[in-house]
Amino acid sequence: MNLSVGSTSIKVGILGAGAMGGTVIEHLQECPQVRAIVAQDIRDERVAELKQKYGIHATTQLEDILADPDVALVFITSANHAHKELTLAALRAGKAVMCEKPMANTLADAVAMVQCAEQTGGFLQIGFELRYSSLYTQVKKWIDAGLLGKVINTQCKYICSEFVGRDSWRVKHATGGSMFGEKLSHYVDLPRWWVGSPVLDVFSVCAPNVVPYYEIRDNYQCLYRFANGAASSLNFIMYVGQTFEGDPLRNVVDQQQGDGHELKYLVVGDQGAAETDVFSRTIKRWQFGDAPKGMTSRLVETLTWTDAEDHVYFHNTHDQTHDIVRRVIAGQPPMTPARDALETTKLCFAAEESADTGQVVRLDSF
Ligand SMILES: NC(=O)c1ccc[n+]([C@@H]2O[C@H](COP(=O)([O-])OP(=O)(O)OC[C@H]3O[C@@H](n4cnc5c(N)ncnc54)[C@H](O)[C@@H]3O)[C@@H](O)[C@H]2O)c1
Repeated sequence: MNLSVGSTSIKVGILGAGAMGGTVIEHLQECPQVRAIVAQDIRDERVAELKQKYGIHATTQLEDILADPDVALVFITSANHAHKELTLAALRAGKAVMCEKPMANTLADAVAMVQCAEQTGGFLQIGFELRYSSLYTQVKKWIDAGLLGKVINTQCKYICSEFVGRDSWRVKHATGGSMFGEKLSHYVDLPRWWVGSPVLDVFSVCAPNVVPYYEIRDNYQCLYRFANGAASSLNFIMYVGQTFEGDPLRNVVDQQQGDGHELKYLVVGDQGAAETDVFSRTIKRWQFGDAPKGMTSRLVETLTWTDAEDHVYFHNTHDQTHDIVRRVIAGQPPMTPARDALETTKLCFAAEESADTGQVVRLDSF
């Protein structure tokens, strides 16, 4: 890795700097351990915009960044189809890499990325920032403290509005769009983290689309089983939440609350349960017990967040970005090994294959 011994700050590159790249640049500009930022994108107009908006060096030339020995870390926030080639090139150039989810458009490409990181001994973290969310890390803390017992069942209900317009690359097959890649990978990654056991198999059922111009599916009912006996479900529909235009002066959770959007998990263990509710910014915990009449369940904890904490309590790309910079400087490994992210990726491809074939898909068949 390109890092001189004793460094306390680094230069960071952004490869493929569209909307998500802009968000990461803003996080990096607030990070005291980042001394310089350089961005690359294939579009001339975006490069001009990056220079003008963020006052950073920007280029269309990938080599400008990869050949710069001062750049220790790159964030790959390009469109999905470029994730693999950019990751391999950056790892081979000795850069630490954070690559956005979905890892890649094919499982073979995702495997190649992990193998390259392992062969080069490079740092590769995938962008599952919900593992930094204060809402979802609270569930993990309760599990690690033994308060839920052994997690045996998780259920996710997710209802949202149409997420991008009809022209986006994210809803077209040719450009690697997929609902698991774009959204649902996050929501099967969390149960994997909480249950902590390999997923054995998955079964997905999808009704016909309501959004007529999406090439990708807009609804899923998935069931998946873990090696330790736990089971999870994901119920997702896209078309009910009120169409979201977004008022930049108001926060997103407030704007979508009560308009049909819903995002809840129920996480059940053999000694207690937790419920997360994004749109009421609330998490609850129940404790199970024994009484002469039978089993008891008592609501023992309710935590809430304020709108001022939205950037850390839900999609916490802020803390993820700063943590990765800190890890790279300290010579520490990724928060989650790339091989673990590969298992989530495998589950996503298996869930899509099950929806295609109507069959249960075993993950070890991949
Ligand atoms: N973690 C999350 O919650 C989250 C949220 C949004 C987006 N994302 C991911 O971030 C990535 C970018 O999404 P976005 O919304 O910013 O898309 P976007 O279309 O706004 O930006 C993608 C950029 O990649 C550039 N690009 C395409 N091919 C390239 C290549 N070969 N080399 C360099 N640049 C290239 C495009 O010109 C564009 O500027 C996607 O992988 C997406 O799934 C993750």
